[in-house]
Amino acid sequence: MSEYKRSHNCGDLNAKDDGQEVCLMGWVDTRRDHGGLIFVDLRDRYGLTQIVFNPNQDSLHVAKDLRSEYVVAIKGQVRKRPDAMVNKKMQTGEIEVEASECKILSAAKTPPFQLDDDNVTEALRLKYRYLDLRRPKMQKNLQVRHLLTNHIRQFLNTQDFLEIETPILYKSTPEGARDYLVPSRVHPGSFYALPQSPQTLKQLLMISGYDKYYQIARCFRDEDLRAERQPEFTQLDLEMSFVDIEEVKELNQRLVSYLWKELRGQDVGTIPTITYDEAMNRYGNDKPDLRFGMELQDITDMMKSSSFKVFSDVANREGGAIKGLICPNASDFSRGKIDKLMNVVKKGGAKGLVWLKWEKDKISSPVSKFFDDASIKDIITKMGGKEGDIAFIVADDWGITCASMAALRLHLGEELNLIDTSKDAFTWVTDFPLFDYDPNEKRWIAMHHPFTAVKEEFLEDMLNDREENFPNLRAKAYDLVCNGYEIAGGSIRIHQNEVQAAMFRALRISEEEAKQRFGFFLEALHYGTPPHGGIAWGLDRVAMILCDTDAIRDVIAFPKTAKAYDAMSESPAPVDRAQLLELGITTLKSQTNKT
Ligand code: AMO
Ligand code: AMP
Repeated sequence: MSEYKRSHNCGDLNAKDDGQEVCLMGWVDTRRDHGGLIFVDLRDRYGLTQIVFNPNQDSLHVAKDLRSEYVVAIKGQVRKRPDAMVNKKMQTGEIEVEASECKILSAAKTPPFQLDDDNVTEALRLKYRYLDLRRPKMQKNLQVRHLLTNHIRQFLNTQDFLEIETPILYKSTPEGARDYLVPSRVHPGSFYALPQSPQTLKQLLMISGYDKYYQIARCFRDEDLRAERQPEFTQLDLEMSFVDIEEVKELNQRLVSYLWKELRGQDVGTIPTITYDEAMNRYGNDKPDLRFGMELQDITDMMKSSSFKVFSDVANREGGAIKGLICPNASDFSRGKIDKLMNVVKKGGAKGLVWLKWEKDKISSPVSKFFDDASIKDIITKMGGKEGDIAFIVADDWGITCASMAALRLHLGEELNLIDTSKDAFTWVTDFPLFDYDPNEKRWIAMHHPFTAVKEEFLEDMLNDREENFPNLRAKAYDLVCNGYEIAGGSIRIHQNEVQAAMFRALRISEEEAKQRFGFFLEALHYGTPPHGGIAWGLDRVAMILCDTDAIRDVIAFPKTAKAYDAMSESPAPVDRAQLLELGITTLKSQTNKT
């Protein structure tokens, strides 16, 4: 190897290098044997360079043995290509390298899939992740991710933030998921919990006086996985002392603007703010995709005296809501197409979907026996529609109506190509309910987490345990949403011990349990706690947006499957009995169903 020293990478060379003697190293991407000459595209993470071999030359016999993914070193001379042979699509397309020497550094088995094949199953990609990561797209994604964390650090470091690491072997931090537990050998029968977030730790750092903290933090949550969720993921976690909502938003606005300018060439502008209630009413969910309109219309009141019983029953029922949307210029939608939309709303829990169609000379609807043509036109008009449009309507409990109409809105936005993908759309969502009722457990749960402060006007309700008012309580919590993804969430925290105690009472966490789970934290609140607040970004989700992908696995080097399985290392895996004994653990039954 000593006689070969890499002089350039495979994306470096161009016409200016004509005549230069170079040494390149990389992987054989493609190999074309033209009888007299052999052409190889040599690849590394910077690009591709075409190498020309004359295998009849004594020193180049070895070129005949080259196959895809062999790792080679070549020496040769850069040669400008004749004009007709220039490949404009290739970064190095103006030149090729005429090889004079070649050494195989490592042979390769035939790969289980071609790197340029886009139809490889996800299972195979993940099993051979190290090959999958050779794809130019994956290499670009990981590079973008590197730039993202790099720019975040650059920005925050100039704003007096300190980057502080917190432990991974820790205690349960409640963020709504199950914990991953780690058994202790030294304390048999006791377990660490991997942090669902560094929430309590960053609050303790505020108590310790580190008034501006951040961390690129790994978090662990045992929860149902989706396209934008992994069991271990990365947050940009930050916390600030002596601030209220506006200061946290302002800092984050500047950070977003900086990142989007540097990494995406976009001017984000002033990020708008909408309240949770407004988001739910206008879009049906609390992470609205604002790249298109098609807002929901509430027609509950209009339907109170309808002769269509489904509507009038819901309209007059406590908690019932009837919402619809106008699909413009869609009165030619076929029955088949509408039936598919029925499936979309049913996934959100709706029992049906009413449609009102206003064609030029014809009104039609499955409920036309309850509404004459004039009232159908009137409903469509009041919903902001006109001739040529269809209205779609769902009637159900408020939550189901919202969820199914939100799903319908997103589906139609995509299907009708309404989404403007040229610019990312951000919004703050604020004024979240403090509590959510869990009908299974018959108790209130914290909508964000139990350390979130209530808005001042509701403080008395909390301190006095006025449960009847709990549905109205609003939190000092905020989410940052981009293109329909919740990319960050945070809150101003409770910093007084008695308020924290009231919160635990509200959540039916007994004093004893609170002491056992968070005693150290409650104790700390007694020793001089500054008002503080912060936020955590889902860094993987931000990377997804910056990489224009809708799969979180595309921006994580070694991700897990939807069943939290690592197909490459085959983990989780059973362990030796001896290892378990040492930990004082026995298992009930080994399970084999993994991927
Ligand atoms: P929260 O639970 O909202 O808040 O998480 C913050 C952000 O982390 C991202 N996120 C995830 N990304 C990938 N996979 C997951 N399983 C996953 N879960 C969450 C989301 C989310 O907005 N301690 C609080 C923050 C705070 O209050 O400061 C917290 O963790 O983008
Ligand atoms: P039915 O009276 O069940 O035949 O329903 C008549 C129409 O109303 C059908 O198009 C159903 O899809 C629709 N529908 C039924 N229940 C609901 C509901 N809760 N919300 C919206 N549409 C509904």
